[in-house]
Amino acid sequence: MDRTMDTSLITLDNVKRIYKVGVEYIHALDGVDLRIGENEYVAIMGPSGSGKSTLMNLMGCLDSPTSGKYSLAGRDMSKLSGAELADVRNERIGFVFQSFELMPRLNAFKNVEMPLVYSKTGKWHKRRGLVNNVMERVGLTGRIKHKPNQMSGGEKQRVAIARALICKPSILLADEPTGNLDSKTSDSILALFDKLHAEGQTIIMVTHEETVASHTRRVIRMVDGKIVSDESAERREQI
Ligand SMILES: Nc1ncnc2c1ncn2[C@@H]1O[C@H](COP(=O)(O)OP(=O)(O)O)[C@@H](O)[C@H]1O
Ligand SMILES: [Mg+2]
Repeated sequence: MDRTMDTSLITLDNVKRIYKVGVEYIHALDGVDLRIGENEYVAIMGPSGSGKSTLMNLMGCLDSPTSGKYSLAGRDMSKLSGAELADVRNERIGFVFQSFELMPRLNAFKNVEMPLVYSKTGKWHKRRGLVNNVMERVGLTGRIKHKPNQMSGGEKQRVAIARALICKPSILLADEPTGNLDSKTSDSILALFDKLHAEGQTIIMVTHEETVASHTRRVIRMVDGKIVSDESAERREQI
């Protein structure tokens, strides 16, 4: 295939990630081929230890493959330095985690503003407006001065989502974003993801739960570091 014709946002070619622990080699990703286009909404499922987080970390430029190739928007990520990868993360990737990972001493506004502080493009005099806009988008107006320990789990995850969105990322990566939330709060976070997807956001989400995955348009299942199935919503609805 002519790679210059590849218009995918994300392209993985035979990606392997091997961890060495003592004398043992762990094949966390064992030859993954994957293409994800703009504005896709994808769930990654699979048993614990199957390589889901390793895959997310690679796509999020937090880690590099042991072998194989990862391209983001047509650019080969394996050729970039650590500093260049940090810029790609800041400009193109939004990460959301199960445990929110907010800065405990900072209020919601400061947490959401943080990526702009490190951004080359984030003009300081525009920050307030940008933060207010994204807080409104995630339904958090009125919580700007609250610190993480003054917010509910759902509110904390909205702050984390706002922080992930503040630099207008190409991809929103969410690793079990509803894993620490009760079902009603989970539903409200999933409704927010549905809205963001409808607005054009590309979203890739790891989940254990079929009901969560059913919000997405494509489900990728992993076992032992390999993709074992990859189905679109249209196909699932036929079954
Ligand atoms: N930093 C690491 N060092 C060594 N082994 C790791 C590391 N991270 C993950 N692993 C191993 O790689 C495999 C895949 O892990 P992970 O991607 O976290 O799976 P999942 O997210 O699907 O539960 C597991 O066997 C795990 O123990
Ligand atoms: Mg994991």
